[in-house]
Amino acid sequence: MNDLSFPTARSVAAASRLTARYGAGLPAPAAWNETLNLLLSHRSVRAYLPDALPEGTLEALVAAAQSAASSSNLQAWSVIAVEDPARKARLAALAGNQKHIVEAPLLLVWLVDLNRLGAIATAQQQPAEALDYFDSFLLGAVDAALAAQNAVVALESLGLGGVYIGALRNKPLEVAAELGLPPNVVAVFGLVVGHTDPARPADVKPRLPQQAVLFREQYGFGAAGLHDVEAYNERFRVFQREQGLPEQDWSAQAGNRVRNVESLNGRHVLRDALHQRGFGLK
Ligand SMILES: Cc1cc2nc3c(=O)[nH]c(=O)nc-3n(C[C@H](O)[C@H](O)[C@H](O)COP(=O)(O)O)c2cc1C
Repeated sequence: MNDLSFPTARSVAAASRLTARYGAGLPAPAAWNETLNLLLSHRSVRAYLPDALPEGTLEALVAAAQSAASSSNLQAWSVIAVEDPARKARLAALAGNQKHIVEAPLLLVWLVDLNRLGAIATAQQQPAEALDYFDSFLLGAVDAALAAQNAVVALESLGLGGVYIGALRNKPLEVAAELGLPPNVVAVFGLVVGHTDPARPADVKPRLPQQAVLFREQYGFGAAGLHDVEAYNERFRVFQREQGLPEQDWSAQAGNRVRNVESLNGRHVLRDALHQRGFGLK
């Protein structure tokens, strides 16, 4: 990375990161620094070396995660570090056989954890009725996501790679059994962590233009926004070509992903599974 203490280096880095994310034509930003550079350099990594993580990495990632904001400071999440190759392989099988789970040395499983709050209330001979409501589940899911994303930023700052594994929700009851989860605890996603294989690099994936997601004062995605999506499809195809991936419009991919119940890969029964795990979701 260039030394961003120099204004010229800052503007060069900003232009290059913004172009990778949005294509050409964005005005030079007034503000830029190492943190923005790191955030805009994010890419999911799906090819890893088998090397172990440096000593203390897990603890540093969890410290970053616990430094995220937490709704009412309830800290309604936990994380399980899975390093045992056999357990990782079983979890990979439950998550659509994603090979990067097996390849990388660490899988972090992020949990909505209402069990701890329930136990704390019980120890005070208090009811914990609020935990039976949907908002408590959502609170835990939001807290877990914020914590995990802090861990992602931290691991990328250490030169490591990561990728989220939402497919851990395909079989929530089996995942819960594998991880010995008590009632009121469920895995919301995984995060693979490891050393990126330099022979199989991933690149920065373009995103929708800002005008398709950033509205001022009131919501604003309408028919005109579909033109922005068309422009994005073009940039997305260039990315796919450069990565040697099959070319398909982003809008077609997105359409397929939301098309029908089958697109949910088993997650259409998630609410039932959550009920079985003890969540009230009232
Ligand atoms: C909650 C969540 C779940 C995800 N689940 C998976 C997954 O199961 N497998 C996978 O390869 N990528 C998964 N991803 C990664 C996304 O595919 C990726 O973030 C997206 O394509 C954008 O690419 P980028 O992260 O490289 O910018 C997930 C991302 C998020 C935020």
